[in-house]
Amino acid sequence: MMSERCPSSDKGVFKAIVSSNKQIGQPAASSSSDESRKSRRFYRLRLEFLADAAKAFADFKPGQFAELDLSGTALPSPESIPEDLHDAAGRNILLRRPFSFTDVTAKGDKTFADLLYCVVGPATLRMTALSAGDSLSVIGPLGNGFSIPDSKKTALLIVGGMGVPPLLHLAKHLTADSRVTRFEVIAFAGAKTAKDLPFEGQLDEISQQLGFSIPEFARYGIESMVATDDGSAGYHGFVTDRLAEWLNQSDLSTKDMVIYACGPEQMLARLAEIAKNKNVDCQLSMERRMACGIGLCQSCAVECKVSNSAETVYKMCCKDGPVFNSKEIVF
Ligand SMILES: Cc1cc2nc3c(=O)[nH]c(=O)nc-3n(C[C@H](O)[C@H](O)[C@H](O)COP(=O)(O)OP(=O)(O)OC[C@H]3O[C@@H](n4cnc5c(N)ncnc54)[C@H](O)[C@@H]3O)c2cc1C
Ligand code: FES
Repeated sequence: MMSERCPSSDKGVFKAIVSSNKQIGQPAASSSSDESRKSRRFYRLRLEFLADAAKAFADFKPGQFAELDLSGTALPSPESIPEDLHDAAGRNILLRRPFSFTDVTAKGDKTFADLLYCVVGPATLRMTALSAGDSLSVIGPLGNGFSIPDSKKTALLIVGGMGVPPLLHLAKHLTADSRVTRFEVIAFAGAKTAKDLPFEGQLDEISQQLGFSIPEFARYGIESMVATDDGSAGYHGFVTDRLAEWLNQSDLSTKDMVIYACGPEQMLARLAEIAKNKNVDCQLSMERRMACGIGLCQSCAVECKVSNSAETVYKMCCKDGPVFNSKEIVF
């Protein structure tokens, strides 16, 4: 039995005001050096919702998402457009873009939502030009978030690259919400290289030795492990291999565990396999290119198994997901 399912109720089109928008981790990326071209550009954007919007977003669940209209947002100054995005920069933004939140806090009659984004194309490039006081049209809350099963005691959060936002939000929910704080939570974060890990902040040596490698999870008292494909930070290899090793060594009962994950599809496919072999419940947040965000345009189809049948059906990632049970998905 699930204690919570996170439906997309009370969604609507709302106005959000930008509170702050800051680059994190990397230095300003205007250089044209190979090194700079390759490094990811991460930003943290804080939005403020008022009145009805504050009410609608106050109950935004980890794993849900919102669609931002960036069509009217100006480009940043030409010198701050990275060389690898010069061509993409001029493209018109016709469709809204989907984003998860890393944190949602209701304070009085306001709700604040924090968004962590990576600059990859014309819309996210325009987002870098947003500043305090700007307003944005946001549709949400959309989709179904993660479920919190009553019967589980250990939550394993598996992050691949930019999959971190919904899992940071879930980390807070699992540790700060008194209805679910029975969980022991452990996070595993992987990326190609250390520079692709969208985290900031430093931990002292003692904290690191105690297993609190990532400050964003340490803040919630969550032990975390890092893996990079090139060995530039933490375990040398895939985060899924690190998890498999950990599961083989752990004394904890797999029957009490639940895996929550978001990241590249290959990582999610491997996790579904590990979960099946170890008989661990597993919820995967799938990413698809999205347009309408509400199940109308059919652009975000995910092939799913039909139980007790060889048939498959297409579900809509935006409406039926983005979180799916790993047993459901055809990879
Ligand atoms: C439910 C959901 C939640 C998301 N949450 C976040 C978030 O919290 N932070 C964040 O930085 N990004 C998030 N994304 C991805 C984000 O929507 C895209 O990065 C954004 O739309 C890119 O817009 P753009 O115009 O800058 O680049 P585009 O030109 O649209 O895309 C640039 C490149 O990214 C690829 N891409 C874009 N969107 C996706 C996608 N959904 N799946 C796989 N590849 C994609 C494109 O193929 C292209 O190669 C989320 C996506 C989904 C579906
Ligand atoms: S984005 Fe239109 S159906 Fe999912």
